[in-house]
Amino acid sequence: MTGTLAHTDGAPLGSLASVRVVPGRLLSAAAADLATHLTRSGPLPYREGTGTGPLLAEVEAAGLTGRGGAAFPTWRKLLAAAGGGQRPVAIANAAESEPASAKDATLLASAPHLVLDGLQLAAEAINAREAYLYAKEGPALILARRALAERRVLGLDRVRVRVAVAPNRFVAGEETAVLNGIEGRDALPRDKVRLPVESGLHGRPTLVHNAETLAHLALIARRGARWFREVGTAREPGTFLATVNQPGSGPVVVEAPYGIPLGELLSLAGVAGPVGAVLLGGYHGGWLPAEPGLRLPVSRAALAPWDATPGAGVVLVLPPGACGLDAAARILGYLAEQSARQCGPCLSGLPRLAQLTGELATAGRLAPAGTGRPDPRLPGELTRLSGLVSGRGACHHPDGSVRMLRTALRTFDADVAAHLAGRCAAGAGQ
Ligand SMILES: Cc1cc2nc3c(=O)[nH]c(=O)nc-3n(C[C@H](O)[C@H](O)[C@H](O)COP(=O)(O)O)c2cc1C
Ligand code: SF4
Repeated sequence: MTGTLAHTDGAPLGSLASVRVVPGRLLSAAAADLATHLTRSGPLPYREGTGTGPLLAEVEAAGLTGRGGAAFPTWRKLLAAAGGGQRPVAIANAAESEPASAKDATLLASAPHLVLDGLQLAAEAINAREAYLYAKEGPALILARRALAERRVLGLDRVRVRVAVAPNRFVAGEETAVLNGIEGRDALPRDKVRLPVESGLHGRPTLVHNAETLAHLALIARRGARWFREVGTAREPGTFLATVNQPGSGPVVVEAPYGIPLGELLSLAGVAGPVGAVLLGGYHGGWLPAEPGLRLPVSRAALAPWDATPGAGVVLVLPPGACGLDAAARILGYLAEQSARQCGPCLSGLPRLAQLTGELATAGRLAPAGTGRPDPRLPGELTRLSGLVSGRGACHHPDGSVRMLRTALRTFDADVAAHLAGRCAAGAGQ
């Protein structure tokens, strides 16, 4: 494929050494060892049995939202988890199941204590007795285990933190799959009858937060809401970690404020050449053409009219000349293959969508000019099937997958027309 997208085979990022980092406020506070971390960041505040009150007020004033993809207000989850009758549980979700993402592993490796501080503060605030760090085996988890041992020597963690190993599977990072994984079952999403904050790990109220969310929380606790709001937009304050992938080079993790124009984010990541299109928000995200995509601010509000979202900050750059349909078909094939196949939309809908998208993508390359053209009803059938799949799964996997396809068909409409005519406008595979 021209302009091969990174990691479409779902292989884990083998070595963090290949990840380039452009730090901001979060990553520049990073220190791998505890002594440097405490000197740099100061002691943990809010530890005198104050309950949820003060931390929750600060997090609410800061406007912190989850960095795991859905951007849910963090203070609401803290409040809900603390309000349950039984002893709650707190979980740091560092599964990073999105194959093109490297930000959580990078954060965990370079600032493990910031993530663990956030987990500890959140756990203490909701009165939890148990906490978990859920992450894939790899260099980041080795460093996080070392950090946990350092904290144990100093008696820093009042709530005991256990490590649970996440399998390398796309849906394993979904929050109810996380619960199953920690309970020792297959890490597949549950039928969400009740939210994890109501009934989570072994039926107890459970707070599941992305590792980056917890690191931001640890800084907000120390530096305050006003500091957090100094950057970003009024509705979406603070910074976020993006993983920028472009063909031919390793992923770059960049910290940037919400609202940064997409083109500027790519420049920070060192994307130099011309851009054809961008997939923003990862495999569940939305495709944008370079124009006006690169001018759009990276924020939920600005991207919503484009059916796109910052998600967990994953960006895939497609160079001009690469076939967008081919890229979309490969990603959809991966997503269909990675589903838990527990619900109808994933069992039959995604595989069929992947097959038809594959047919449309290969049509432009395989059909000799003017012969063996694909069925002109293919795009209509894709749209119809997408509508049947949306909103019908136990988790958001089908919805996200269909968003990626829907925005691909819109962004690459010229490619669709060319493929239907038996040509590939992008010249892929010719
Ligand atoms: C298929 C799927 C995979 C997901 N994978 C991850 C993941 O790897 N890491 C993560 O933090 N959240 C992941 N999420 C989102 C989680 O379900 C959950 O919303 C998140 O961990 C909550 O943390 P936050 O409030 O800090 O964002 C995934 C969601 C879906 C639907
Ligand atoms: S929607 Fe798909 S991925 Fe989600 S629980 Fe159902 S089968 Fe699994």
